[in-house]
Parts: sequence; C-alpha cells; structure tokens
Amino acid sequence: MHFELVDPLDHRELLEACLEVARERMGVCRSSRVLKTLKLHKKRLLVAARDVRGVAGFKLGFCERPGVFNSWLGAVAAAREGNGIGRRLMELQHEHLAALGYRLVRTGTRNQFRRMLILNLLSGFELVGVRHKKNGPHLQLEKRLTPGAKSPENNLVRS
Ligand SMILES: CC(C)(COP(=O)(O)OP(=O)(O)OC[C@H]1O[C@@H](n2cnc3c(N)ncnc32)[C@H](O)[C@@H]1OP(=O)(O)O)[C@@H](O)C(=O)NCCC(=O)NCCS
Repeated sequence: MHFELVDPLDHRELLEACLEVARERMGVCRSSRVLKTLKLHKKRLLVAARDVRGVAGFKLGFCERPGVFNSWLGAVAAAREGNGIGRRLMELQHEHLAALGYRLVRTGTRNQFRRMLILNLLSGFELVGVRHKKNGPHLQLEKRLTPGAKSPENNLVRS
C-alpha cells in the first residue's frame, strides 16, 4: 500500500477513483459538485491510499481560512475496512498539515458514520457543535494540531 498527498485538481483520475469509493460508502457524490467546491478554494489536499487493487481509501479537504483546514470527504472501501488504512490516512493528513503550519482541522460527520465518528474521537477531535439538517444531526468536530511535525514532501496546501 502506498500513500499519495496531492492537489486533487492536478490528479483528476485519482480523484475520480477516490469518489468511486465515496459513492460506494456514502451514496451520491457528484463529481461536478466536488470539482466546483474544490475550485472555490486555492489550497486543497487529497491523501489517497492505493495498491495494485486500486484506491483503498482517501481523505479530501481544503484550506477554509488561514491556518484552518476543512477535512471534507473521506472513506475506505468496504472490502479494505479494519486494516488501519483510515487511521493512517488521518495521521498522514494531520502530520502534513501541522508541518505546513495549520493549527486547526475541522470535520463533520453524522451518527450513521459511526466508525468515522469513533476514529475522529480516538484521533484527538472534539465535538464542538451540532447542526440540525434534513437528514438528521450533523456533528461538527475540531482538532488542534501540534506545530512542527514531520516536514512535508511538497507545498500543496501551504498557508
Ligand atoms: C471510517 C472509515 C474511514 C474507517 O476506515 P478503516 O480503514 O476501517 O479504519 P481503521 O482500520 O484505521 O480503524 C479505525 C479504528 O477506529 C476504531 N473503531 C472504529 N469503529 C469502532 C467501533 N465500532 N468500536 C470501537 N472502535 C472502533 C478502532 O480503533 C478502529 O481500529 P480497529 O478496527 O483496528 O480496532 C471507514 O470505516 C469508512 O469509510 N466508513 C464509511 C464511510 C464514512 O464513514 N465516511 C465518513 C463520512 S463523514
């Protein structure tokens, strides 16, 4: 398994393969909508786990404002679940963001994505709010990053 940290707009095929995993796990996820959102943000980061069988999982997000990263979408293929891929994707994302000087990661999830909620809590996120939406409560989480983690290999989301 290898892990890639890239700008998703420069790696459209990889992004599309990741969105296939998102569709398998979370239902509708229109590429046009994702691209539109990504293009609204100057700094974006896709962390993807891939091997000979294809994309196993990913995390996708963007810089919301200086020092604050929104970890927007993420999933691990059902057949690959429970092998530490989700945890590793998150670790790599956080290490990279901390090394770039980000101080906060934000994310949101719902009760039905229980594994993600648990993984977020185990990874240091705190629940900071709940938004009531049509499809049920949307849980808002934040994690403060420790500055000066390992050096990034590229400058994709430098603030
Ligand atoms: C959430 C998700 C990314 C986790 O991926 P994963 O590769 O299975 O994660 P890991 O193997 O690194 O394990 C996550 C860890 O969280 C913890 N965990 C998860 N569910 C748990 C549960 N029900 N009870 C206790 N611990 C749990 C465990 O520590 C687990 O590690 P373990 O299974 O080795 O014990 C994956 O399950 C997924 O894509 N789910 C569906 C889509 C989704 O929820 N997306 C997010 C929408 S906001």
